[in-house]
Amino acid sequence: MEVVISTTPNEAGRLAAEIIQELLGRQPAAVLGVATGSSPLIIYEELGRRVTQGALSLAKARAFMLDEYVGLPADHPQRYRNVITAEFIDKVDIDSAQVYGPDGLAADLVTACGAYERAIADAGGVDLQILGIGTDGHIAFNEPGSSLASRTRIKTLASQTRTDNARFFGGDVEAVPHHCLTQGIGTILQARHIALVAFGRRKEIGRAQV
Ligand code: GLP
Repeated sequence: MEVVISTTPNEAGRLAAEIIQELLGRQPAAVLGVATGSSPLIIYEELGRRVTQGALSLAKARAFMLDEYVGLPADHPQRYRNVITAEFIDKVDIDSAQVYGPDGLAADLVTACGAYERAIADAGGVDLQILGIGTDGHIAFNEPGSSLASRTRIKTLASQTRTDNARFFGGDVEAVPHHCLTQGIGTILQARHIALVAFGRRKEIGRAQV
């Protein structure tokens, strides 16, 4: 593991984009893991800049999302599929049909979780996972106490996470769903490379309640 302290979020975004560019240079059809939350946005912006400049292409890449809210309508702007479309897919040249996420609207959520695990395995696993971290230490939506061996499953969001994420729902914590589908920690740890970005004092070790 390498810990890199950056002086600005921009610098961290450039560094992460550099790692992704290097991977795609070697392996144009690489499988990326994409995260939501505000922290990775700077990486997606930098990737978009490089694609626009012609320095980088994600045209052959595939991507898997980490998690999804359960029950948000298909057109809800905070549905993670829609967030990833606006913040990542629309900024780069990846084929949107090659970006996959857990189906939070499936009639049978347990089956959807198993299908998602199989889709990741069938793609050969994730080459590089972009990760953020919640203020309670959650990774994807694996709240504190999640098993290190966990796989994609239904989880109940911690009240701290719902409070944190209320900012994306007009400040209304009641509008934040209670449940989600999330890759497990065991799933995430199978990625061949993980780049985790964390910004600001709210993410300091010792502050997170893990
Ligand atoms: C959400 C996402 C996580 C993300 C976290 C932190 O809960 N499910 O994947 O790491 O938010 O978000 P931020 O980067 O905005 O602090």
